[in-house]
Amino acid sequence: MGKVAIVTGASYGIGKEIAKQLAKKGWEVALLARGLDKLREVQFEIAKENGVSLALQCDVSNKSSVSEAIGKVKEAFGNIDLLINNAAYVPPLHKFIEGEHSEWEKAIGVNVWGALNMTREILPSMVNNKKGKIIFMGSKAGISPTPQLAVHSGTKHMLEGLVGAIRQEISGNGVSLSIVRPGGVATPGYDHAVHSSAKSDEKPDWIPTKSSSCLDPVVVASQVVNIVDIMDSADITDINIAAVTTPSQ
Ligand SMILES: NC(=O)c1ccc[n+]([C@@H]2O[C@H](COP(=O)([O-])OP(=O)(O)OC[C@H]3O[C@@H](n4cnc5c(N)ncnc54)[C@H](OP(=O)(O)O)[C@@H]3O)[C@@H](O)[C@H]2O)c1
Repeated sequence: MGKVAIVTGASYGIGKEIAKQLAKKGWEVALLARGLDKLREVQFEIAKENGVSLALQCDVSNKSSVSEAIGKVKEAFGNIDLLINNAAYVPPLHKFIEGEHSEWEKAIGVNVWGALNMTREILPSMVNNKKGKIIFMGSKAGISPTPQLAVHSGTKHMLEGLVGAIRQEISGNGVSLSIVRPGGVATPGYDHAVHSSAKSDEKPDWIPTKSSSCLDPVVVASQVVNIVDIMDSADITDINIAAVTTPSQ
């Protein structure tokens, strides 16, 4: 039996790159997101490299959609060894007092409820089997309260508390949890948050203005896949990934 991974938000951005790199290393990868067409494109790219994946439409903010998708993964691949909680939604940068409730709901739905739904559904069997790994995509905004991203920053702080608390509850049980905190990464999500905002000139210092100054999603994905391997022999609680700052001319 192969090693089985689920990657949420695998249709584009960092999640797509994590899924492709895991498949290249021999993992059977379930690709979850709402947009099935894009997931199928990723599945096709993986198949071209002789990898194995399963594209599943799933809204992680919806509990029954999550249960249904996880049922299908178990049916196709068996026990789940690795969960990457990657899916997120970041509203366009804005001051809190100008924020829109509907945008906040989307962010909390995916970033908080998505991670809760996925983890609540998968963690019990990992604990029973005394084996499994869960990696959460946090953010620098999850440890640095970030203006223009107050609610998003709050959702990522929630993940920090969640991961720290679960780690204590399951300590010594054979299941490991880790959180990865990138800075700005050149993805469709970054473009949406930073460039669809009329006030992106007021953005926080640590968020690059241009995609070209951001981290490469392939590099961030390679760090995630790297810690998946290391977690077998070492407890990697968290990693921070920041872009290299180039000296000014
Ligand atoms: N990019 C950055 O600068 C940056 C910085 C720090 C941390 N991060 C974190 O890294 C992770 C990936 O970020 P990214 O920039 O690659 O994101 P992205 O480009 O916006 O991609 C988001 C992924 O999540 C999926 N998704 C969104 N809503 C969903 C839902 N309700 N259910 C299931 N899937 C959903 C999207 O597919 P569908 O739309 O088809 O559902 C897509 O596959 C996130 O956790 C993010 O917070 C990113």
